[in-house]
Amino acid sequence: MAVAQVLLAIVLLSGVYYLFIRSRGTVRYLRGPPRPSVLLGNQRELRYQAEVGDLEFAWVREYGPTFKMGGCWGTDILATADPKALQYIMHTAGYHFPKNAMVAQSSANIMGWGIASVQGEVHQRHRKVMNPAFTAQQLRTFLPLFQRSANRLTQKWKDEIQIGTKVFNVSRWLARLTLDAIGDAAFDYRFGALEDEGNVLSKCFENLFSDSVLYPSDWDTLFRALWAYIPAPILALTEYLPTREYKRFRHFKKLSQGIAKELIKEKESALAESTSRDVMSVLVRSNQSEDTVRKLNEEEVLSQMATLMLAGHETTASTTTWLLYELSRHPEDQTKIREEILALRKRTGRKEFTIADMEALEFTNACLKETLRLYPIVATLFRCSDRDDVIPLSTPVTNEKGETVSQVIVPKGQEIHIEIAPYNRLPSVWGEDADKWNPKRFLDDSMKDKQTSLGVLANLMTFCMYPF
Ligand code: HEM
Ligand SMILES: *[C@@H]1O[C@H](CO)[C@@H](O)[C@H](O)[C@H]1NC(C)=O
Ligand SMILES: *[C@@H]1O[C@H](CO)[C@@H](O)[C@H](O)[C@H]1NC(C)=O
Repeated sequence: MAVAQVLLAIVLLSGVYYLFIRSRGTVRYLRGPPRPSVLLGNQRELRYQAEVGDLEFAWVREYGPTFKMGGCWGTDILATADPKALQYIMHTAGYHFPKNAMVAQSSANIMGWGIASVQGEVHQRHRKVMNPAFTAQQLRTFLPLFQRSANRLTQKWKDEIQIGTKVFNVSRWLARLTLDAIGDAAFDYRFGALEDEGNVLSKCFENLFSDSVLYPSDWDTLFRALWAYIPAPILALTEYLPTREYKRFRHFKKLSQGIAKELIKEKESALAESTSRDVMSVLVRSNQSEDTVRKLNEEEVLSQMATLMLAGHETTASTTTWLLYELSRHPEDQTKIREEILALRKRTGRKEFTIADMEALEFTNACLKETLRLYPIVATLFRCSDRDDVIPLSTPVTNEKGETVSQVIVPKGQEIHIEIAPYNRLPSVWGEDADKWNPKRFLDDSMKDKQTSLGVLANLMTFCMYPF
């Protein structure tokens, strides 16, 4: 009885507290879609869309780039694809919009507490350690490795065609290609996924997300919405939950970190002495550093490696799959790419290009950017304000009271959805044909003058990143 009363009191107090917090912001006055459910708000329909982003695209068309949607338990979520708002949240405000606790813990359940999971000062420390391995100069050294992997894949495809295979799974082949490429580039290690169909790691990656986070149960959705209120040490126990999704993540984490450990063991003594800037040397040296702002402990090193395996693998594989898909629908663009490459080969006399050659392939690069624009592999980011704040908008929106607002006041703890995919398709940024495949838009320099400077590539939000 007493327990029930205490629980009831907690629920009531949290409700009152939430209403108090909410009263300090202006999110509740924004317009937004009707909510099919009191408890789930719009969160169920968001997770059961036929195509990623369909609902968000429609909502942006209807309510403008900044709107509110229903979170779980009757809360309001601020959703925005507005360029100025995104610039403020992701860059100007620095660390004041961290990942929400649910995202950070879920990411830790998959990869451990590596750079993609940690926040604030810890994130800064991880970044400091990793930066030398990700300079433009360092990345350029990978080109021959990538060319070697790509050549192996094209040879495999030629062999397949030779023996009469008419249909093959491009997505699966590319996933194996990028696994080999990340192994080569980050760890100087041959996973051999292209040659070995049964490679344990590539098997474990296969459909990692569609097997787990796609179509969650309502219970899990409601449960996860409470993670922001659960103390971190208790939240960490979610790793051991016995359901499908959590088991799948645990399996990946164990396998990837186990492989990371073996890779390091094989090379430990050589790596500690080297001055090389490849990721693994950088990580092993950081583990041995005396300097607390540059040190990563053992668990952090292994998590970092698992993070790189995951972050560098599906993302690039899926993006390349989308590129080939669009090119198959636009044979005229295929032809242009071939002609551009042949012309450059003729001009340079080189079959394998240098970085400068690659950069000179204007139309090919435009096709890559157009793919990244239309198919950002991470379509939404989930953030949260850590102080009361005011978010500026470049496109004012009309609120429920009929007023035009050009800023949103958010209380500390406001949940925010960073709408990457809808931003990438805003007509105000990309033109009236923003929904369509049109690589030529990237050859038009006048477009840039109209845009707010965002992101690390071509004003796309696709690689949405913290400032360095
Ligand atoms: C098309 C390919 C890729 C896309 C679309 C992509 C997208 C993203 C996005 C949206 C984030 C931000 C996540 C957040 O702030 O919550 C991110 C972070 C990150 N990505 Fe990628 N990524 C790609 C390829 C790669 C590759 C190839 C690597 C490494 C080899 C990589 C490593 C990372 C790392 C380490 C972070 C965390 C950065 C930080 O928190 O400071 N990504 N990526
Ligand atoms: C291609 O492979 C992916 C996994 O990599 C799988 O999800 C998909 O169903 C496969 N497609 C076909 C047509 O077999
Ligand atoms: C990190 O350093 C500790 C102590 O020197 C060592 O036992 C451990 O093997 C190192 N781990 C990695 C991943 O380098």
